[in-house]
Amino acid sequence: MRYLTFALGKGRLAKQTLATFEKIGITCQEMKDKDTRKLIFVNEELKLKFFLAKGPDVPTYVEYGAADIGVVGKDTILEEARNIYEVLDLGFGSCRMCVCGPQEAKELLQHHELIRVATKYPRIAKDYFYNKKHQTVEIIKLNGSIELAPIVGLSEVIVDIVETGSTLRENGLGVLEEVCPLSARMVVNQISMKMENERITKLIRDLKEVLSD
Ligand code: PRP
Repeated sequence: MRYLTFALGKGRLAKQTLATFEKIGITCQEMKDKDTRKLIFVNEELKLKFFLAKGPDVPTYVEYGAADIGVVGKDTILEEARNIYEVLDLGFGSCRMCVCGPQEAKELLQHHELIRVATKYPRIAKDYFYNKKHQTVEIIKLNGSIELAPIVGLSEVIVDIVETGSTLRENGLGVLEEVCPLSARMVVNQISMKMENERITKLIRDLKEVLSD
C-alpha cells in the first residue's frame, strides 16, 4: 500500500482538521509535538503522511500530486482556481466573503460607480464585480490588514473575510454586500481520486458520518 499524503493549511484550520481526523481514527502523534522542526509527519500504521503548508500553496501541492488530499478554506480554492476536485465541506472555519466599507460607500455600489476595491483576493473580487454585478472597478491587491484601505483612503471598499465582524466594527466599517459563504473544504488530486479511489472514498464517507453527528 502506498502512502496517502495530506497537505494541511497552517493555523486554525489545521488544528480543527486534525481534531476531525482523530474522530475517524486517523491520528498523527508526531505532529502534536510543538517543538518539532520537522516538516512532514508519518503514520506508518495507516500509511499516511501529513505536511503543513501556507494556505494558498495547498491547492498547488494537490494539483501537482505532491499531496493526494488537501484541507483548505473555500476562499483559497476560489482564488487559486487550480485543477483539483473539491469533495467535502468540513463545516468548520465558517465565515463569509463580503464587500465591506463605510456606510457611505453603499451608494457607490448601487450606482455602479468606478470605485477602488482593495483585497487579498483579486480573482474573487474581479469575478464578483465584473461577472455578477457588471460593475467596472479598479482592484488593488493587498496582503493583509485589508480594513486599513478604506480608512486611509486607498480604496472606497474592500473584499475580505468576515468572521465575527469585530475587526470591521472596531474600525467603523460594516458589511455592504455578501459575496459568498466560506468554510474548510477537502480537496483531492484528480489522478489520486482515480488511483486511490477506494481509500479516498472511504475517508470521505467516514468524515461525512462524524460531521453529521
Ligand atoms: C481576517 C480577515 C479580517 C478578519 C475578520 O484577517 O482578513 O481582517 O480576519 O475576522 P473578524 O470578522 O472575526 O474580525 P486575518 O486575521 O486572517 O489577518 P490579515 O488581516 O493579515 O488577513
